[in-house]
Amino acid sequence: GAPKPRLTFVGCGYLGATYAICFAELGYEVLGIDVDSDKIAKLSGGEVPFHEPGLDELLRSNLAAGRLAFTTSFNEAAEFGDVHFICVGTPQRNDGMSADLSYVEQAVSKLAAALPRKALIVGKSTVPAGTATWVQQLVAKHADPDLAVEVAWSPEFLQEGHAMEDVLRPNRLVLAYQSAWAGGMLYAAHKGVFDLAAAEEREVPVVTCDFATAELVKVAANSFLATKISFINAMAEICEVTGADVTLLARAIGHDPRIGQRYLQAGIGFGGGCLPKDIRAFQARAQELGAGESLRFLHEVDLINQRRRNRVLKLAAHLLDRSFGPAGPDLSGARIAVLGATFKPNTDDVRDAPALAVTTLLANAGADVHVYDPAGMDNARTVLPDVTYHTSIAEALPDADLVCVLTEWTEFRNADPTALAHLPAQQVVIDGRNCLDAALWTAAGWQYHGMGRP
Ligand code: UDX
Repeated sequence: GAPKPRLTFVGCGYLGATYAICFAELGYEVLGIDVDSDKIAKLSGGEVPFHEPGLDELLRSNLAAGRLAFTTSFNEAAEFGDVHFICVGTPQRNDGMSADLSYVEQAVSKLAAALPRKALIVGKSTVPAGTATWVQQLVAKHADPDLAVEVAWSPEFLQEGHAMEDVLRPNRLVLAYQSAWAGGMLYAAHKGVFDLAAAEEREVPVVTCDFATAELVKVAANSFLATKISFINAMAEICEVTGADVTLLARAIGHDPRIGQRYLQAGIGFGGGCLPKDIRAFQARAQELGAGESLRFLHEVDLINQRRRNRVLKLAAHLLDRSFGPAGPDLSGARIAVLGATFKPNTDDVRDAPALAVTTLLANAGADVHVYDPAGMDNARTVLPDVTYHTSIAEALPDADLVCVLTEWTEFRNADPTALAHLPAQQVVIDGRNCLDAALWTAAGWQYHGMGRP
């Protein structure tokens, strides 16, 4: 068949680096580009600058195979690639709501200006509606018009901790393009994904659509997931005043296939680099488009999510027998062990992590907080330097008046409550993720408190 197009991934953060490595693994010749020379040096040296299971090994084998390289040079990338995937970040602006597109602007302008031949630029970053058309205008402004450079859009749905699978075996591909040539290039650039699926006798559903739909798919999917989580957390609040158990409630409603079991885990809510910022940027964009009303419920979704963090503070104050004044509780003199810092397990990411937010609330209330997380401590230290960090559960627990489990790492789920019971001063545990076996912990002599559970 036709030779495989050569691919570049512009922006080697979490998204771009994962894609670059996985597409090299699929047999493409790949170049990753980033303006951050430290990041590029690490990746070139075989080191993934973030924690993602299995990715290090894949990076090293593909570097060795000569299919994968990294650069800081836009000229080199422009010279190399037939298809360029834009994977730069779109962080939240200082207004706390809308998305900052300056990285997209820089990446596209520099790349377009350096292109020596016709190429396809594919947007992957999560962006507000209307960005693809704006990118086309940027390309028109910076690229040589004779080259007829084209733009396409294909959102990604990576889940941290599961990212390799999500790239190699996506549960769907969304492809938006405007010419037969662009469509052909996009399919060629994903042939490896289709071939792998065929070899495993799977199918990859493809949704071909216009730019506006492709841009919306990502934020709509994340809004749905965030809403599902806040829904069950709202039910947890109701369970707390009725004496019901939200874990059983979730299981019971989840047996209805129209609802499904997943994303109904009540606890301290959602965090991370995507869900919170995406639902805010989506609201800001809808407002600009005169459709703010349509997404007003996402504001409520956000509020429910924020309330879960305070719930742990309130419960801690109650369990430690402290009064809760207008300025919040005074927890001074109390020693609290916190297990978990990352926004979910199997990642070192602490961006907007509910666990760290709760830890900050506890520390600000005057508690002496002792934290252990299996992977996120280096990142946690930079965000929250003023608490004490430990390198194991057994080191974090001694003399604690209260233990809070805030991220559902397997190491915490599997911890033996009997073996740990002698360590703290009081055998009281708040299970912020409903991840512990309540009966087992109670039998081992602990006072167990879940979220939305009696
Ligand atoms: C999310 C989307 O899942 C992914 O498709 C998109 O591309 C990026 O955003 P990610 O940020 O990796 O991925 O996190 P995810 O696994 O979805 O979890 C988000 C947060 O929700 C975590 O803090 C998690 O603890 C929380 N969560 C998830 C719950 O509180 N309850 C649940 O039932 C599920």
